[in-house]
Amino acid sequence: MIDPRELQARLAEEMPPAWRAAFMAVPRHEFIPDTVWVRREGRPVPLTRAEAPDEWLNVCYADEPIAVQLDDGDGSGRGHVTSSASMPTTVALMLEAAGLRPGAHVLEIGTATGFNAALVASRVGVENTTTIEIDADLAANARAALVNAGFPVEVVTGDGTKGHAPNAPYDRILSTAAVHKVPYPWIEQTAPGGRIVTPWGTAFHSGALLRLDVNGDGTASGRFDGDTGFMWVRDQRTPHGAVEDRVKPEHDFAETVTDLHPYEPVGDFSASFAIGVRVPGMLSTLVYDNDDPGTQRYTVHLMDPVSESWAAWRIQPGPREYPVRQHGPRRLFDELASAYAWWEGAGRPDYTRFGLTVTPNGQSVWMDDPVHTVA
Ligand SMILES: C[S@@+](CC[C@H](N)C(=O)[O-])C[C@H]1O[C@@H](n2cnc3c(N)ncnc32)[C@H](O)[C@@H]1O
Repeated sequence: MIDPRELQARLAEEMPPAWRAAFMAVPRHEFIPDTVWVRREGRPVPLTRAEAPDEWLNVCYADEPIAVQLDDGDGSGRGHVTSSASMPTTVALMLEAAGLRPGAHVLEIGTATGFNAALVASRVGVENTTTIEIDADLAANARAALVNAGFPVEVVTGDGTKGHAPNAPYDRILSTAAVHKVPYPWIEQTAPGGRIVTPWGTAFHSGALLRLDVNGDGTASGRFDGDTGFMWVRDQRTPHGAVEDRVKPEHDFAETVTDLHPYEPVGDFSASFAIGVRVPGMLSTLVYDNDDPGTQRYTVHLMDPVSESWAAWRIQPGPREYPVRQHGPRRLFDELASAYAWWEGAGRPDYTRFGLTVTPNGQSVWMDDPVHTVA
């Protein structure tokens, strides 16, 4: 039988020095449910503490996210991960970005297991920590785990995009679920001079960490830094759907040829970040022929489920002449190509040169300076 304290010490060593003691004070395995989901051949399968205690414990202390709920717990078997214990080094990155000091009032959005809430509480105090989870079962489990581990913080069951006004104002709001649009109640419920840290992304790009400083005039502004892909808050999920559900045989399409290869527009972090910012609501899926990456033959599908537009960008070895088919009111490939040309023309900016400002009227993304709005 493995000693969890040894695994805990090893994991704590991988954390930034300022957070090592907290990772030693909060045993992660006490927050992880007895059944978790691990990926085998692309499908999530259950791993139980009772059947594989050592494997379960190793999973608890690996620097990996752990899936703790599928399909919002509806039992449908679709296999979408809807709650997880975040990857420990990502948790630490966010805690560092939040700049937590003892005594600060903190609201965490997305309790899930309660592990992060316990880490927050270990720094700012149990009485200063509130955490909110939309899923009632997860909230109840986290509440019990937090009490059990000696961090009985207030766990609210509710929609975190509305914040939690009764305990406001907060010095810090820390969201562990990603947003496309920063909810304005977060600005209203943060004290002037306070900070909001949240993963932010687009339909095209899984996102980056956004650190917003809240001003006293009802606005907040800050930059992106940190590669953090998170699940979305529930009401900001982009509709999914298999390519087969979106690209129908009866669809007409216009066909062109391009020499643009997806390597950078789709594969480069900063290029695809900028494209996601400039081209709203566009999803992409890469499908290899016969599911075999070795063939070097694949299609990049671009889709906008709202306007029912799609583009299929066909890549194969040989000359740089890639056929593109486009259907629907939006010409998604043309939009992508023009956003990529914009990024190249702007000097191929790194994503950390972008920032975001929120006002009561909405949000805008800028480059280098809030006056240079890009979307
Ligand atoms: C990646 S997990 C959070 C990880 C967690 N902080 C931890 O320490 O393990 C994201 C969580 O956000 C929750 N969530 C999604 N939308 C939400 C919302 N609108 N309000 C509150 N929680 C939400 C999900 O149910 C999920 O449990």
